[in-house]
Amino acid sequence: MTSRHFTIAIDGPAAAGKGTLSRRIAETYDFHHLDTGLTYRATAKALLDAGLTLDDEAVAEKMAREVELAGLDRDILSKHEIGEAASKIAVMPAVRRALVEAQRRFSKKAPGTVLDGRDIGTVVCPAAPVKLYVTASPEVRAKRRYDEIRGKGGIADFDAIFEDVKRRDERDMGRADSPLKPAEDAHLLDTSEMSIEAAFQAAKSIIDAALSRN
Ligand code: DC
Repeated sequence: MTSRHFTIAIDGPAAAGKGTLSRRIAETYDFHHLDTGLTYRATAKALLDAGLTLDDEAVAEKMAREVELAGLDRDILSKHEIGEAASKIAVMPAVRRALVEAQRRFSKKAPGTVLDGRDIGTVVCPAAPVKLYVTASPEVRAKRRYDEIRGKGGIADFDAIFEDVKRRDERDMGRADSPLKPAEDAHLLDTSEMSIEAAFQAAKSIIDAALSRN
């Protein structure tokens, strides 16, 4: 029997490959996809654009409540400055509450959804029938980001990127509200020595098995 909606929760640190994997899974199963990092980034951008402080939780919450989930675009929200600001407002419980409410509504879309972020399996969708925790060593993640920037013709400094990856991890894993960690029932996918194709095949067998039980 197929239920009305099926949720796939994908968590993990920055640059572990969860974005690429999530998009591919959503396309394969024809599910709706939400990159929840973009909701934090869009809130941060709205504050920066309005020239508002990043330190006022009530103001940030108001912005979070106005974020439209449709049409969030990583190209527009990819700037380093926006990522830094997003990681600062992501520690605020009122901001998280507002965005989590919107993310939960999204997760109920039929026939199914893929949500990726840091707290999907632990907080946003704890009852999701499939939870994946996608990770890779900080060195591998920094190298991937370095190659990506160089691939686009940009100038990249590996040591600076590596430090940035480690600092972002500390902030995401160390915060009091909804820190990044695998849910107890999450399947761990370490992509340090795995191609994206191998990671996708591993995820697909987990999802297919869960769908056949659903
Ligand atoms: O994945 P990203 O770099 O676009 O995320 C931006 C920031 O938002 C990052 O510091 C982690 C935070 N975030 C979060 O706290 N919870 C989520 N579900 C997704 C992202």
